[in-house]
Order: sequence, then C-alpha cells, then structure tokens
Amino acid sequence: MAFRPSFDSDLWWEIRPPSFEEPLDLFGEPLELGEPIDYAYFSDTSAIWDSEYHGQIFGVPRSGKTNFLLRLEYEFLKRGWLVIHRDDMDTYNWLRMLNVIKKIVVWVPKGCKLSWYKPPPADVEVKIKHYEPDNIYADIIQKLSGAYAKGWRYHVIMYDSFIGHNYESLANIVRFYCDFLLGLISWAARRPYERKIPIMLGYDELNDLIPPRGKSITETHENLREALVFTLRKIGKHKIKIFGTAHRVNQVAPDIRAQAHLFFFTTTPVHDAYDFLNKLLIYIDNETFFTILKRLRYLPTGYLLYIDYRGMYDWAKFNYLPEPPAEIELSGTIGLSRRKQFDEKDIAILILRLQGYTFRDIADAVDLSLSTTYKRWYKITENDALYTALVKAEATPIERMVKKRPRRGE
Ligand SMILES: Nc1ncnc2c1ncn2[C@@H]1O[C@H](COP(=O)(O)OP(=O)(O)OP(=O)(O)O)[C@@H](O)[C@H]1O
Ligand SMILES: [Mg+2]
Repeated sequence: MAFRPSFDSDLWWEIRPPSFEEPLDLFGEPLELGEPIDYAYFSDTSAIWDSEYHGQIFGVPRSGKTNFLLRLEYEFLKRGWLVIHRDDMDTYNWLRMLNVIKKIVVWVPKGCKLSWYKPPPADVEVKIKHYEPDNIYADIIQKLSGAYAKGWRYHVIMYDSFIGHNYESLANIVRFYCDFLLGLISWAARRPYERKIPIMLGYDELNDLIPPRGKSITETHENLREALVFTLRKIGKHKIKIFGTAHRVNQVAPDIRAQAHLFFFTTTPVHDAYDFLNKLLIYIDNETFFTILKRLRYLPTGYLLYIDYRGMYDWAKFNYLPEPPAEIELSGTIGLSRRKQFDEKDIAILILRLQGYTFRDIADAVDLSLSTTYKRWYKITENDALYTALVKAEATPIERMVKKRPRRGE
C-alpha cells in the first residue's frame, strides 16, 4: 500500500526529498506481484490503479516510454482489467507481451494481413480478428465484453500501420480513434455501473492524436481536438482509464494534460519540462527542484519520476518485459474510406469559385483560413472527374483560377 499521510499531517509540507538512490520499486519485482512495499513514500501509487485518474508518460525518444507503458498494461492485466493497446506503427514492442500473457487479440483492418515471420510461443493463443474501420462499434467495441468474459483481456488495435502513403490518410488516424473513443464511451455508459468492465487504454504517442492548437498535422486534427477533449473528460466516469505517451510536454494539448492527474517522466531535457514541473511540484524547495531537473536530463534505463495528483513525487524503477519472442509481417492498406471524400465546405467552395468569388471571400463564407481554402480547392481540382466537369462548364481555366489576384497597385 502506498503511504498516505492524514489530511492534517505535517508531512504534506515535508520537503525532505525521496531518495534517488533507493527508488520506489513500482511494481514489485520480479514480474509477479511482490510483497507490498513496506517503507513509506510520499506519492500515492494506489492512484495508478484508480479508474478516476488518467496518466501521461513523457520522455525523449528511446527513453523507455513504450516499454513502461507495456509494463503498466501488464500490471493492469494482472489486476483483472481489460487492456487495449494502440499500436503506433513503431517497432511492435507490444509483442513483448507474448512473453508474459497467454491470450491476445490483435485487431487488423479488413483487407489487410498480419502474418508471422517468427511465430509466437506455442503456449500463447493469438486471435487475429478483422474489422471494418468504418464500423468499429459493431466490429470491435460490442465484442469486448464477450471477449473479456472468455478471458481475452489483451487487445491490440492495429490501424496506423495500414494507412495509405499520403497526407490525407493521416487525418484518418485521428478520425478513427475519435470514433473509437466515442464508441467506447457510449458502450460503457449504457452498462450499469456494477457491470462496467474496467478498461485501461494504453495510447502510445498520444501527441499524434491531440497536438496543441496551431501544431496540428492536418485540418482534421484541428477540427477534432475539441471532440477528443470532450471524450477524454467523459471517459474516466465509466471505468475507462487512459495512459498516453508523448515526447515533449508541449506536444500534447494543454486541455488534455489537464485531464491527466498522474505524470511519469523518463529522460526529459530541462527546457521541455521546466515550466510544467515548476507548476506540478509545488511542495518542494528550489534546491530539490533543480536536482530533479538535472537528474531528469539523463535517467538510467528503467528509471522514472512519478508525480501524483497532488504534486507528490517519487523516483521509481521498473523492469522491461523481455525481448519480443515473435516477429510479424504486414501487408495491405486500408481501402478508400467509404466516408465522403468531399464535405459541405468543399461543395460551397466549388460553387462560390464557379461564381467568380475571390478566395478571400470564400474563406470568410465557409469559415476557414485562406490557406485551408486553397488546399481544399486544389484537392477538388485534383479529382479527375471534377476537373473535367469544371473544364466542360467553361469555367475560368483552373490554373488561372487558383492564382492569387494581384494586389491593388501591383
Ligand atoms: N531489456 C532492456 N533493458 C534495457 N534497455 C532496453 C531493453 N530493451 C530495450 N532497451 C532500450 O530501450 C530503448 C527503447 O525503449 P522504448 O521503445 O520503450 O522507448 P520510447 O521512449 O518509447 O522511444 P520512442 O519515443 O522512440 O518510441 C532503446 O534504447 C533500447 O535499446
Ligand atoms: Mg515508443
């Protein structure tokens, strides 16, 4: 049990720093649940298992974020949770899980293929299930409770590895996961509290999904940000808990950071973490604060800084799961989405442009920025059928239409 001072205890104001030399053994090694830790720590580690709290893992590339996430997932599995892991097109680190669990479901989009280059251990049952990306509610989410009841508690969602090789397909990632999260909430919300399944969602590279304003990868990211914030706000109420990883504090939208209560830092440079840690670690004196920052610049493998929901911290360590015992090979791409390729705004742009309006006026009319309006217009003209129709309609030659109008006086 984690040590928890009483509400009026002086310990809340205690500034003696937890020891770096003797870090908190987060999960009790070896991999099986160890004896409860019998010495006192300031942070509340029981919050990790409390469905009310979400967590964020920060750290530079190759600092062990994904490995820590996997280790956490494993601990949740041991505690009877259903765990969903988002595969982020990285090195398929989740295959490490095949060392320690006996059942795993891998969700692969229809028309795409996962085959084994090196097969999983004989005693591990792997189910490869196909889903239609536009129908995830029926194809995946509604099947989770049945799977859970039958002991299939570790689910890997593969999507990113099968998107097409173009800019537009990036937007599909965020659409897909927004639908996925919304589906998960509405499914969980319908179940009586007693019957809700505790779900831990391990979302590797959360920054892909919810970058801060102005840093969006695509327009869809920008548009869906509020929807995702809304979703994450609701999710904790239904026994669904998210742990996300990101490289830098500033890569994740502040609204999302505000939804997380627990923070884990692997190696993190000072300039990335300074402001944020300054706000989190309100109880400590300056000297300790700077010691923490200096240590964070280079942490040994398997070390991290854990900060709980009240700003209490501990240095902690964990063991990596063993190397993946299997290897996969993937083929296929997700077919063109059945979603509409053009939306209302594209249609408005098309019509207004045919009427001879300027891009500036059109941008105002459809409430988009000038550059986005241009981009959308290009997308329209890149469609062969539309291009031909525009030419037939004897509209102003396309090339000339997209040219900027000369400024007055030019
Ligand atoms: N068993 C192990 N013990 C110690 N270090 C390991 C072990 N297995 C892998 N590593 C090291 O861990 C690092 C990769 O860890 P991981 O993929 O979790 O990092 P990450 O922070 O998720 O990186 P990225 O941001 O690139 O996804 C590599 O530097 C690798 O050499
Ligand atoms: Mg990683």
